[in-house]
Amino acid sequence: MTASPIDPAGTAAWKNLETIARELAPNFREWFAQNPNRAEQFSFQAADLHVDLSKSFLTDEVRAALVDLARQTNVEERRDAMLSGEKINVTEDRAVLHTALRAPRGSTITVDGENVVDQVHEVLDRVYEFATKVRSGEWTGITGRPIETVVNIGIGGSDLGPVMAYEALKPYLQEDLEVRFISNIDPTDAGEELSGLDPETTLFIIASKTFTTLETLTNAKVARAWLLDNLPEGTGDEAVAKHFVAVSTALDKVAEFGIDPNNAFGFWSWVGGRYSVDSAVGTSLAIAIGPENFADFLAGFRAMDEHFANAPAEENVPLLMGMLNIFYTNFMNAGTHAVLPYSQYLHRFAAYLQQLTMESNGKSVRWDGTPVTTTTGEVFWGEPGTNGQHAFYQLIHQGTQLIPADFIAFANPTYPFATDGQDQHELFLGNFFAQTKALAFGKTADEVRAEGTAEAIVPARVFEGNKPTASIMAPYLSPSVLGQLIALYEHITFVQGIVWGIDSFDQWGVELGKQMANDLGPAIAGDEAALADQDPSTRSLIAYYREHRDA
Ligand code: F6P
Repeated sequence: MTASPIDPAGTAAWKNLETIARELAPNFREWFAQNPNRAEQFSFQAADLHVDLSKSFLTDEVRAALVDLARQTNVEERRDAMLSGEKINVTEDRAVLHTALRAPRGSTITVDGENVVDQVHEVLDRVYEFATKVRSGEWTGITGRPIETVVNIGIGGSDLGPVMAYEALKPYLQEDLEVRFISNIDPTDAGEELSGLDPETTLFIIASKTFTTLETLTNAKVARAWLLDNLPEGTGDEAVAKHFVAVSTALDKVAEFGIDPNNAFGFWSWVGGRYSVDSAVGTSLAIAIGPENFADFLAGFRAMDEHFANAPAEENVPLLMGMLNIFYTNFMNAGTHAVLPYSQYLHRFAAYLQQLTMESNGKSVRWDGTPVTTTTGEVFWGEPGTNGQHAFYQLIHQGTQLIPADFIAFANPTYPFATDGQDQHELFLGNFFAQTKALAFGKTADEVRAEGTAEAIVPARVFEGNKPTASIMAPYLSPSVLGQLIALYEHITFVQGIVWGIDSFDQWGVELGKQMANDLGPAIAGDEAALADQDPSTRSLIAYYREHRDA
């Protein structure tokens, strides 16, 4: 029996936070002057991550009130319910157990009477065995040549995690093996990604939790036709068996598609798509970085899970960061949240987080069907620094909206370049340190004047400061640290969802557009009656398309 959501706005902690927020005048210059220990007091260690929240809006009072709100909305109880396999995904009647995907062999988490950890390791062992065969060249294509390119075909959670992690872990890739990704139903995507590939040395992984997703199935068919058209003759079904594997919870549908069930890797309904990169959905990644590094990746998730499960609320990084996001969104009117990695390898991290956070918490009803009582679901966005600095940071520094931002950086570079005696990574990190400093402490009009600035342009050169940030650092961007970062944001997302009383694990909001896209097929193809049934705007857009498409 799932507990009813608690109305956060009706709690004593919420009322207290309203008062605190009304009276809070964030002033980092003063806060640090009054408390020389502030950096130490609000810096935390979560696994290998050093997380400095001293330039956030945490104060002793704010932290205590946020922890109270977490307690009064049962965040810790819900966390424990999730971790123990309770069916907290109410609208789909499912357990939520991405944490079981990284549970150690031999541990027990039970769903419907079965220990799912055993199943997880059974599949992982098969994925590792397969990855090893592909990497060593033991697995060959139909003409006996080893695989040189793996193409992952999937979308959403069946794409964003693998592609983000593949990009992030480039230093760990096997040299003679490339992974490409096809996701978009725009034929351009398949066209571009297939171009230049040799079908004899290409392996396709069709990744789809449901194995019903139009984009993925369409691209899989395109890939199959491309393979069979371009291979030497007479290699039909046998070629598909050597060049296609699948990852899905719907193994019956995989078989219907014509993929050998022996070449399919399963996962389970209790793994949400956007929480699945550490399941068999990560098979392309396991091939790319190898089983040992993939195991390290999982160990990183696990380390963060343990921190989330065990650290006291006052020092629990995902809990504090999730509650701070509540503070910014619900009490400080922030509508967006920037995530700014100072690592080019993390250039797809924000895109990955967009699905994780926004598909999870972009909801306006609670898990019992009643309307939410507060604002939910901020927009997550970002780009790697320093590129973002030359694009949109202006708005974070001097715009009129409050934009909390997470900065992420690593102590060690992969490429130790130096020019004119200057270590390039230090130049890079200089920017990382400078940005949160500038955002926090700003620059006063007097400081601007002291630089000899003409009075007329002093206002334009003032930096208000007092913009909240979190700084996350780790020694290296290793597979484990990447796992820790992902799990950190998974748990932040969870915490926010619980406070808001929403089911962070369904995604009904994507259904209507999917259904309409299917229904529009006949009208687009020229069925006049179907066209006439459309609303005037859709009708005129389709008419434009039909007029302008070359015959
Ligand atoms: O349409 C949204 C969604 O269901 C995501 O939640 C999911 O990650 C994506 O589509 C792909 O779904 P599947 O893995 O079932 O193909």
